[in-house]
Amino acid sequence: MKSVFKVGTKKHLKKKMFFDESVDIARYDTVKNVPQQKLYEKMLSFYWTPDEIDVTKDKIDFGKLTKGEQHIFTANLKRQILLDSVQGRSPNIALLPLCSTPELEVLIETWSFFETIHSRSYTHLIRNVYPDPSKVFDEIVTIPEILDCGKDISRHYDLLMHYRGKFGSYEHKRLLYLCMISIYILEGIRFYVSFACSWGFAEIKKMEGNAKIIKLIARDENTHLAASLNILKSFPKEDKDYVKIRKETHNEVIDMFMSAIKQEEEWADYLFKHGSMIGLNSGVLKEYVRWIGAKRFKSAGYTTPYPTQQANPLPWTEKWIGGGNVQVAPQETEITSYLVGGVTQDVKENTFKGLSL
Ligand SMILES: [Fe+2]
Ligand SMILES: [Fe+2]
Repeated sequence: MKSVFKVGTKKHLKKKMFFDESVDIARYDTVKNVPQQKLYEKMLSFYWTPDEIDVTKDKIDFGKLTKGEQHIFTANLKRQILLDSVQGRSPNIALLPLCSTPELEVLIETWSFFETIHSRSYTHLIRNVYPDPSKVFDEIVTIPEILDCGKDISRHYDLLMHYRGKFGSYEHKRLLYLCMISIYILEGIRFYVSFACSWGFAEIKKMEGNAKIIKLIARDENTHLAASLNILKSFPKEDKDYVKIRKETHNEVIDMFMSAIKQEEEWADYLFKHGSMIGLNSGVLKEYVRWIGAKRFKSAGYTTPYPTQQANPLPWTEKWIGGGNVQVAPQETEITSYLVGGVTQDVKENTFKGLSL
């Protein structure tokens, strides 16, 4: 019988990430997966709360936006709310019961906790901008495009959770692998597309408080992306079944990426259906979807099944993602590139490359 505390027979350094004996003592003196421990520390050092960012000017800006721009802003925010609603609970519910190492356990808990800060910040933003914030929240589940996205991002979590076969069987591992791919796509593609829209407004000097909050969220998501990639790459190192699973699921994984990319492209049409904004329209956002999708295919070790361009179609997104590179005049605006825990925060996709991911 499973227990929340049962002393195992295996030393913590000998355990696999998942499906091994449960974690007994939460100890971090020595860990098997050092990059996971470092990612956890990095996440923690980024602790922030939305109240630190002044969003009062956004209220005035919002009133001056065109109807089309207001639609883009609100719809993008609603979809971000959905993404973090799912990601703020699912790793805890679906992954923790399967996890066996202390460093991964705390990484998952911290990861999910930070998604709840993101959800909290959306409420902070919405309360500021809209006279009736409840209306905005109530509308989220009435938008078919958002519900479709919700179905897709929760599907592999649900399949994993509802598995009733043998704990840690080959099929169980296969479901976990696909779930982790789905998480990687969510963290690495879907969130980044929504960030581009948030920063698009700040590029034209509008809704800058929102953009700053999204910058802090992106800084966190970057560590989540690294965490999901670390787990994916650690699977076959620990257990040869995953070498086989990776081969067997190849086409299914490509289909998962492509269906998310297609859904993001369709979402771009929905966002801009009432008009574009300076610097951003559905065409260029779709190019960005494909560009970021290709990057994620490559990092996960898959070949991108479509021709890709080398240059980022939205180059200005990089200064927002690049944390410390942002030049901010303190008298004009809050500095978002500060440190809470005294660790540099410019996490890039390859930051943890040297840590044998
Ligand atoms: Fe998030
Ligand atoms: Fe995340």
